[in-house]
Amino acid sequence: MTANGIEDLPLAQVLIVGGNRGIGLGFVRRLLQASGLERLYATYRSQPSPDLLALASAHPDRLSLVQMDITDEAQIAAAMAQIQSQTGCLDLVLYCVGFLHEGTIQPEKSLQQVEAEPLLRYFQVNSIGAVLVAKQVLPLLKQSQRSLLACISAKIGSIGDNQTGGWYGYRASKAALNMLMRTTAIEYGRKSPKTRVVLLHPGTTDTGLSQPFQRSVPPDKLFSVERTVNQLLEVLAHLPPDSSGQFFSWDGSPLPW
Ligand SMILES: NC(=O)c1ccc[n+]([C@@H]2O[C@H](COP(=O)([O-])OP(=O)(O)OC[C@H]3O[C@@H](n4cnc5c(N)ncnc54)[C@H](OP(=O)(O)O)[C@@H]3O)[C@@H](O)[C@H]2O)c1
Repeated sequence: MTANGIEDLPLAQVLIVGGNRGIGLGFVRRLLQASGLERLYATYRSQPSPDLLALASAHPDRLSLVQMDITDEAQIAAAMAQIQSQTGCLDLVLYCVGFLHEGTIQPEKSLQQVEAEPLLRYFQVNSIGAVLVAKQVLPLLKQSQRSLLACISAKIGSIGDNQTGGWYGYRASKAALNMLMRTTAIEYGRKSPKTRVVLLHPGTTDTGLSQPFQRSVPPDKLFSVERTVNQLLEVLAHLPPDSSGQFFSWDGSPLPW
């Protein structure tokens, strides 16, 4: 599958936050094929993966790797300063960071499993990192004639859609992400009116994040990274007017908060 209309996206200067693996790495790989791309900055938390390093050595003129742990605002600011020193402007920022399981943290099946420390970690990585990036990247997005900040959320973070319960920390952190970015979209509307801010649900995608939970997913509902990336780029290329501050699914349909 290919993404139709992707060349209509503002693609000259692109930043992928969380470009080291999974969906973020898929965006890096795909956008390096786009003819309108001049420079792509891809972030990794501490060590670039072999796949990201291979892309960087194959595309030295177009791909720059930037270290950034989004739990440390000083690192976010340093990464933005590094980008600022190379380009005055960003046209497209895709925020792809997130976790569902990490070390001993597993999604909670019942209230008995809910604990403060894992909850804080979910909020730190899945919610707070994105709004700190939105804060630090505003001066770069503002310089573009037409820019886009898209954050990967999850339908499971929809409060209105929650029929099955469970996964307290992941759900709540994605709901918080949605509120933080909706609020960001309103402020960007005043301070950077040419920037649209949207949230995207990628659909269940075959990455390390979903891997332990894939057994219950019907094969036609488990997307390859390539498929998800193309679907999400197509959604971004065809965003309706007044879409800033909205939450969209992988097929372009709006999702309830
Ligand atoms: N896969 C799915 O089925 C699915 C479904 C719905 C929503 N999503 C959402 O889609 C997004 C991407 O998920 P994925 O499936 O691609 O997951 P993944 O393969 O596990 O990749 C996670 C990414 O997040 C980065 N990351 C995690 N913690 C970080 C931190 N503290 N600082 C900086 N980067 C950090 C990782 O960077 P390093 O490699 O450098 O650590 C990696 O690039 C997430 O927001 C996820 O919640 C995924």
